Amino acid sequence: MDETERVASYEEIELGQLATGLAAHLSRARRRGVKRLAARPAPAVSAGPRAVVATPQAPRHAAPEGPDERIRRLASAAGDLESLATLVAGCEACSLCQTRSQTVFGEGHPKARVMFVGEAPGFHEDRLGRPFVGDAGGMLDRIITKGMGLARGDLYIANILKCRPPENRDPSALEKTLCTGWLQRQIELVNPEVLIPLGRHAAGHLLQRDDSMGKMRARVHHLAGRKIVPTYHPAYLLRTPSAKKDCWKDIQRAMAEVDG
Ligand code: URA
Repeated sequence: MDETERVASYEEIELGQLATGLAAHLSRARRRGVKRLAARPAPAVSAGPRAVVATPQAPRHAAPEGPDERIRRLASAAGDLESLATLVAGCEACSLCQTRSQTVFGEGHPKARVMFVGEAPGFHEDRLGRPFVGDAGGMLDRIITKGMGLARGDLYIANILKCRPPENRDPSALEKTLCTGWLQRQIELVNPEVLIPLGRHAAGHLLQRDDSMGKMRARVHHLAGRKIVPTYHPAYLLRTPSAKKDCWKDIQRAMAEVDG
């Protein structure tokens, strides 16, 4: 862990999340044409699956919670993707919150059978708040539409990190550790049969190993009841068109797992 990176205190994370989450909620409501929000009582902890603020309490006599554990606990309280996106929009757990324009939660079919997982938002994603909308996104679109014969909205697309690293640098170990709780809950809620990590960072993170793409791709991994079929990152395919045929084999492998 890079000691120069600042880890926010628990209180800062919680206050930041509440404040930014509330701001995001209000701005979404405004976009929907809502002019005035009527007050209603805060939901009880057992308020049901849609409660956002009813976060489970940390166990009373347990060892102090780390920031990553705290994020997992907050994420576990989100009963749907919209609630989770609101919590993510308020995340200030690492320094990326200071440089992002907005969080990039992910998008697609809420019950997709296949989920692509990239590394982190880039310049265009940070501006638009949507994953894979730059050049690499164009390549991913072609994989989905021309290769798989599907539309973007049939699948789910997310990233390991929900915020853009400055200058598109690689995500740090700390950023991945903190952000993984959001992704894990996102995966639980979408509940896809097959995960397709795009590139070495995403594949290594989901498979918890530090290996080359060559060693991780070209096979189906089974982890925690899910099938993981890694393939090349679309940005790599733009630089190395000769790798497209292998990517296509990976995609066919992934689709066979869904059909089977
Ligand atoms: N690269 C990624 O890994 N994710 C994006 O959303 C865009 C580019």
